[in-house]
Amino acid sequence: MTTRILFVCLGNICRSPAAEGVARARIPGIETDSAGTSDWHVGDPPYGPMQAAAQGRGYDISDLRARQFSTEDFTRFDLILGMDADNISAIEALRPPGNATPVRRLTDYAPAAGMDHVPDPYYTRDFDGVLGLIETATQGLAASLR
Ligand code: 4NP
Repeated sequence: MTTRILFVCLGNICRSPAAEGVARARIPGIETDSAGTSDWHVGDPPYGPMQAAAQGRGYDISDLRARQFSTEDFTRFDLILGMDADNISAIEALRPPGNATPVRRLTDYAPAAGMDHVPDPYYTRDFDGVLGLIETATQGLAASLR
């Protein structure tokens, strides 16, 4: 069975497209997508500095376009991964009654990093640092699926 994984952040132009780009390159046999809890950037490509940082580590994410997370995503995906506590709250607010799709933080898969969220580089400007954390978590995620 193919595992369908959705990565979610606020704008869907920095953290979640980066996570999608790393996961689709590093985890064979999964289906990936990403979404934002807001509608602020719907239709936009990933933020330029995020694209450049991703390219620097070998990930081309220029094809991705932002969309807003919706309640249908609970039935379209097997696992939903948010980047921070605000994302998780916004996701859970749309969970349909009776739905049991797991919603976790991406950082749950990188316990050694000691982070409970993926910092938003739109504000911190540390695009490469976020990619490093995402790569570490993606290794843990891949191991959890084996
Ligand atoms: P993201 O970062 O949630 O990682 O995509 C953000 C991008 C844009 C904005 C906020 C966060 N914004 O305020 O437009």
